[in-house]
Amino acid sequence: MTIRLATQDDSAAVCAVIKAVYDEYGFSWDPETYHADLYDLDGFYFDRGDLFWVAEVDQQVVGTVALEFFDVIPGQVGALVEIPTSLPRVGGTDCSLERLYVHPDARRSGVGSQLVETVFAEARKRGRKNLEMWSDKRFGDAHRLYGRYGAEVVADRICDDPDVSPEWGLLVRL
Ligand SMILES: CC(C)(COP(=O)(O)OP(=O)(O)OC[C@H]1O[C@@H](n2cnc3c(N)ncnc32)[C@H](O)[C@@H]1OP(=O)(O)O)[C@@H](O)C(=O)NCCC(=O)NCCS
Repeated sequence: MTIRLATQDDSAAVCAVIKAVYDEYGFSWDPETYHADLYDLDGFYFDRGDLFWVAEVDQQVVGTVALEFFDVIPGQVGALVEIPTSLPRVGGTDCSLERLYVHPDARRSGVGSQLVETVFAEARKRGRKNLEMWSDKRFGDAHRLYGRYGAEVVADRICDDPDVSPEWGLLVRL
């Protein structure tokens, strides 16, 4: 298994992996808005200074993850912060882990853990202090994984995705 930074050419494979997970859970696929970033990795990630990785096995993309950087969210570290023009956020964070998905056929062999470790290592290397994650409450496998890396559940919210999904907000002190 190898992990490498994605390129725009990976977009179709990235969409295929994440759509397989959405189909598995019966969630709605929304290319126009909620999943628009996956069709334009340059525009939504690399051009903004953010990062997107893929995990490959036998040259097939089987997993994805992204890291976004931003100015520190105001408020105490770990507090739920209401923001008038967007979804609530986790206070005191300066980066976030996004889009962690492993294809159902490639799970339980360490791909997810290595993707998470890649994100945390890069965030630390860049001097980031507190990482935010929002995760659908039905993704129990992910919450066990995050817990092993010291993630704490600190908040919850309803997402603005087509399924108005309930999410846990998690904090990792890097
Ligand atoms: C969460 C997710 C990314 C984990 O991916 P994964 O590749 O299966 O993760 P890992 O293999 O590192 O770990 C999963 C489990 O396999 C175990 N495992 C890892 N390597 C193993 C191996 N070689 N042999 C046996 N078990 C192994 C881990 O200990 C872990 O055990 P747990 O179920 O008790 O927690 C994946 O389940 C997924 O995509 N889920 C749906 C989407 C999702 O939840 N995304 C997160 C959104 S925030």
